Amino acid sequence: MESINDCMTRDHAACDASLERAADAAHSADWPALQREAGAFLAHIARHIELEEDLLFPAFEQSTGMSSGGPTETMRSEHVQMQPLFAQMRDAATAKDAAGYLGAAQAMQEILQLHNMKEEQMMYPMLDQSLGAQAAAAMVDECRRALDALA
Ligand SMILES: [Fe+2]
Ligand SMILES: [Fe+2]
Repeated sequence: MESINDCMTRDHAACDASLERAADAAHSADWPALQREAGAFLAHIARHIELEEDLLFPAFEQSTGMSSGGPTETMRSEHVQMQPLFAQMRDAATAKDAAGYLGAAQAMQEILQLHNMKEEQMMYPMLDQSLGAQAAAAMVDECRRALDALA
């Protein structure tokens, strides 16, 4: 039985792989591939963040009773910090600026590494636990549906 943590951790790995493909394209100055792969990463992570903010974090806040000052507030503020880097990556890919793209992508990767670790080690497991088996299973279905819609 897949948990919310399994499903979302898998999606983190898919985002990382997408980010990696875009970096490969930037390194080889393959502009159509960079624009395609960077666009795919940005669409994927935007969907991931939307799923967290619209569905998972509110469920976490409700089931644990932790809202303002709690971990969801930290995660939301880290999502906000990512926004300028998303814009830099998009702009650099459009401008065929490999160095600019790679600088922003590297910063993105560093933020994501810590952010994802906090979600995987703390938030998602707490959510799985606080929801209980039945509600967690229903949420896994919703997550899968939302993430599959990307394909
Ligand atoms: Fe997140
Ligand atoms: Fe996440």
